[in-house]
Amino acid sequence: MSRTIPEQLTELKNFFEQKAEKLFPSVVPEAPVLGDAMAYSYHAGGKRIRPILSIAAAKALGKDPETIIPAALAIEMVHTYSLIHDDLPAMDNDDLRRGKPTSHIKYGEALAILAGDGLLTEAFRVAAEETGRGGISPGGQLHFIKKLSESAGIRGMVAGQVMDMEHPESKDADFLKQLHLRKTGAMIQLSCLVPAILWETPEKLYRALEDYGEKIGLLFQVTDDILDETATLAELGKTPGKDREQHKLTYLSVYGLNGARKLADSLLKDALMVLTNLPNPELLAGIARFIRERNH
Ligand code: IPE
Ligand code: IPE
Ligand code: MG
Ligand code: MG
Ligand code: MG
Repeated sequence: MSRTIPEQLTELKNFFEQKAEKLFPSVVPEAPVLGDAMAYSYHAGGKRIRPILSIAAAKALGKDPETIIPAALAIEMVHTYSLIHDDLPAMDNDDLRRGKPTSHIKYGEALAILAGDGLLTEAFRVAAEETGRGGISPGGQLHFIKKLSESAGIRGMVAGQVMDMEHPESKDADFLKQLHLRKTGAMIQLSCLVPAILWETPEKLYRALEDYGEKIGLLFQVTDDILDETATLAELGKTPGKDREQHKLTYLSVYGLNGARKLADSLLKDALMVLTNLPNPELLAGIARFIRERNH
């Protein structure tokens, strides 16, 4: 019998953890407590959906998934930093993340900020030093570093986080889409593009992964918004109900629960459609369905 998608995801997650562990800087001799705080959040047990997407995208192109591990690690480190800062009292003020006390609860605010800074800057060192293995050209490596700064920075995630805090009072659907494309979509789309960037694949394949990444990036945040309303603390590993409490602009606040579910279905359909342009799209298709149906 063929393995289910959750079983395959667990396998890909384990593959990533095992290969990336050697590259993760868990010891910082200059400031041991900084290394502890970085490792605490990184190892707290995220779903690793971004590395899984990079591996699945490599497989979709018929490439060796091991080659993309350093790039996937750099993305996961940036993602982990974004969660630490997202949870700070000045931002979403959350006490729980990945089933554990948040970084600022455990280490205090100053160290939480610095652990985020450490993960972010170290991600760029990993990208610069480690992504050139397995026959990746300097051009592919440089393109990845450029896209990482774009997706994580002031044109991507950081801009999205500002839009999340300073959204208009009115329920503006276009603003909401731009916000979600940036705060969550940009890093997820980049995860899908990793093999196309590193191997400098033909335009048609690049565009297919770019389109797929945009759809599932949005889909991922739509389902995150849905779960904030419908899931339990045990399922999420973070406190539900915060979006409503903090009057966030979300897919639920604009479209309601049923509207958000319908939108998720249509994003899934769109994502599956663009996959027909890739050589081996089955795993990416399964992941898209999993993201739509996920309960954590
Ligand atoms: C949570 O991301 C924050 C969003 C971008 C919606 P994930 O749901 O991927 O969190 P982890 O990595 O599994 O903890
Ligand atoms: C956070 O979005 C996105 C980033 C961390 C960039 P949310 O604020 O909705 O994420 P959760 O719900 O706290 O995980
Ligand atoms: Mg937030
Ligand atoms: Mg949050
Ligand atoms: Mg959320």
